Amino acid sequence: MKRKFKISIASAEMVPFAKVGGLGDVVGSLSKKLATMGHEVRVFLPRYGSIKAKEHGLRKVRLPEGMSLNIGGVEGEILLWQSRAKGSSAKVYFVGNDHLFSREGIYGDPVTHEDYQDNGLRFTFFCKAILELHKALGLETDVLHCNDHQTALIPLLLRRDYSGEPTLSNAGTLFTIHNMGYQGVYPLDILEQTGLPEDLAYPMGPLEFWGKLNFMKSAIVYSDVISTVSETYAKEIQSGEEFGFGLEGSLKARSEDLFGVLNGVDYTAWNPARDRHIPHKYSASDWGGKLKNKLYLIEKEKLTQLSEKSFLLGVVSRLADQKGFDLLQSIVEEMLSKDLGLVLLGAGQQKYHEYFLALRSKYPGKVSVSLKFSEKLAHLIEAASDAFLMPSKYEPCGLNQMYSMKYGSIPIVRYTGGLADTVEEFEPASGSGTGFVFHGYTPAALMEAVTRAYDTYQDKQQWSRLVKNAMEADFSWRRSAQGYVELYKRAIERKTSGPFASWVDALAEGAVGR
Ligand code: ADP
Ligand code: GLC
Repeated sequence: MKRKFKISIASAEMVPFAKVGGLGDVVGSLSKKLATMGHEVRVFLPRYGSIKAKEHGLRKVRLPEGMSLNIGGVEGEILLWQSRAKGSSAKVYFVGNDHLFSREGIYGDPVTHEDYQDNGLRFTFFCKAILELHKALGLETDVLHCNDHQTALIPLLLRRDYSGEPTLSNAGTLFTIHNMGYQGVYPLDILEQTGLPEDLAYPMGPLEFWGKLNFMKSAIVYSDVISTVSETYAKEIQSGEEFGFGLEGSLKARSEDLFGVLNGVDYTAWNPARDRHIPHKYSASDWGGKLKNKLYLIEKEKLTQLSEKSFLLGVVSRLADQKGFDLLQSIVEEMLSKDLGLVLLGAGQQKYHEYFLALRSKYPGKVSVSLKFSEKLAHLIEAASDAFLMPSKYEPCGLNQMYSMKYGSIPIVRYTGGLADTVEEFEPASGSGTGFVFHGYTPAALMEAVTRAYDTYQDKQQWSRLVKNAMEADFSWRRSAQGYVELYKRAIERKTSGPFASWVDALAEGAVGR
């Protein structure tokens, strides 16, 4: 019989409770899949002000009197609620604190998109509280699966302060990197307020990075196993500063324990045959409904200069430099000189908000811009558009290109990270491939890919073949979840076998550098 694990997943996002980007999707669907496979899964999520008890069926969990942590000079009570996501048997624990987690936003102000000033304190509290809760609730654990910098302190704290704790003494740690561009870097002077070990913040030490604190670095040093969300990205982040953002040396030092596991898709949420967000359902065998969705969106967004024949390009994205919007800006007017429309949904950096609003004013009948977060519109754009743009500068995995394929919206992507691992260039001669891929990060390369897509679209037979290929591609979680189980096994073995332990100690003592 296959061994079943007791898995604690820590994350700052999880659908349907809190989501900014793909991390929320991944934690929601991976936890569900692992629970279906028979593992005991609990997810730990902060209880943000935006998570309403009634809407999500939260129940308060009674904790021993006076469970509190002193962070930022304030003795803050640990609050706890519990619930489950619909259709999932994974348990979800919501960790709260009146002072640090009552605000609505996940990382920052939902209106201005400015990060909260006390994020270093908020997520230190979250990490420490998770470990305290394992102790208080007697949660026996085989593996602690931490995701991104908001949970990155857990492996270090586990080793330093909880190794004698019976529920956690055998727990292996897996740290999954979803994005090297966000490392949790804070001024050194919050050290005292967080109560983090000062002896690890010496120059080049596990917590120090160019005179600052770096949460992600500590996880790269202290986790038993490290993973990222595609195989190509696992290589890229060790290759140099362009992808490693300064931590490439630390990653390379852990090369033997660093793996890539591609994200999967939850096809119960992303399937045009059953999608409650779209007016016309369709499938790979009969995708007539797709055109109806396109006409619906054209009318809804008042794109009066477009017809059913126009080539409709969709974008659903965080508006961040990572996503390649500078390339798009350079070619957008040339693109729009064709019989082509653009439908964009996104939120993020102010400069892009301003830019896209101006673009819409200039091309009102061809360009639709929605600067908000809308699950419904995200699904509709996938269903209505002919092609989907992701010209990312870097992309750890990317989910939208996989959603797009399922919806027959052909991805136009840059060859990087997970985009390189999931989209295959269409070859007209053989009829193979699922999208259009360009290599160099240049406006010309993007324009060429858009033009290849546009020209192929004019040939109905070729286009139908391409849409069929894309819609039939399978990125379900089955394979990826199995990949995580293998990493959990390895983390547990790593934890209990000697060599790694001494390696980490050597590193912590400064014997191994950045
Ligand atoms: P990232 O995690 O870097 O943002 P991914 O492609 O992995 O990129 O995941 C993005 C997820 O966030 C997708 O589910 C996408 O539909 C969603 N998303 C991004 N921006 C918005 C938005 N403005 N409204 C609704 N969903 C969005
Ligand atoms: C990150 C990455 C994205 C990835 C997602 C989920 O935010 O930018 O590429 O798909 O995390 O792993």
